[in-house]
Amino acid sequence: MIQPDTSAVAPRYTRMASLLHWLIAALILTQIGLGLVMDHATLDDMVAFSLFQTHRALGIVALVLIAFRLFWRLGHKPPVLPASVAPMVRKLAASTHFLLYVGQMVSPLSGWALASASSLALPLSLFGLFDWPLLPFPADGRFEAPLREVHHWAGWMLAALIAGHIAAALWHGLIRKDGVFTQILPRFSWSKRP
Ligand code: HEM
Ligand code: HEM
Repeated sequence: MIQPDTSAVAPRYTRMASLLHWLIAALILTQIGLGLVMDHATLDDMVAFSLFQTHRALGIVALVLIAFRLFWRLGHKPPVLPASVAPMVRKLAASTHFLLYVGQMVSPLSGWALASASSLALPLSLFGLFDWPLLPFPADGRFEAPLREVHHWAGWMLAALIAGHIAAALWHGLIRKDGVFTQILPRFSWSKRP
């Protein structure tokens, strides 16, 4: 039997919210993957350097998009959750989303600070197009080690939050089937949503 299409009436994230969510999600997951490989795999020096440069440049692209997303989000409320979602789950979702916003800012900001505090002070080239400015840290590299720790833990805390977030999304989508999962899916009928 063909199910009725309720998508036109169900509250959804706007196209912009959905686009930014998936673009940034893909960038962050790539960044975590690159960070893991860069730091824990045995690589040829040239390969390691090019992964390192890619990680730094993609991290800055992510930072710009995330800053735009935050700014945009301040003026746009997310859609209401379906009535079947329990109050406890609503609170948990709101706190997790808040922490995801904090985490997705702290990771690239700490990466930028780490790159700027490095005693090598390598230019932060954005794919050879132009150099992104470095933050004004002392040239002796004394902040490099503590900032490496901050970036390391920020990355792994964000990864843990994302794992919980994906598990919750799958629980909504596959077990509860309550419409929460579809709220953020991209919609390909461009005429229906703002
Ligand atoms: C395969 C991966 C992912 C899936 C399936 C997924 C799924 C979802 C779903 C279903 C929602 C809507 C929840 C609701 O309406 O309460 C959502 C919202 C959200 N997701 Fe994801 N997500 C994924 C990856 C990520 C990643 C990597 C991040 C990175 C930080 C992220 C950050 C967020 C945030 C901040 C919101 C709340 C948006 C807002 O209210 O402005 N998601 N996600
Ligand atoms: C969304 C943004 C970012 C995420 C999620 C992220 C995540 C990570 C992760 C998980 C690691 C491996 C940490 C470890 O195992 O010790 C790492 C390493 C690193 N990241 Fe990022 N990063 C981001 C942005 C940046 C940016 C913007 C820069 C610099 C401009 C940067 C520079 C570095 C450097 C230099 C390392 C190697 C640290 C070391 O020497 O051990 N990252 N990053």
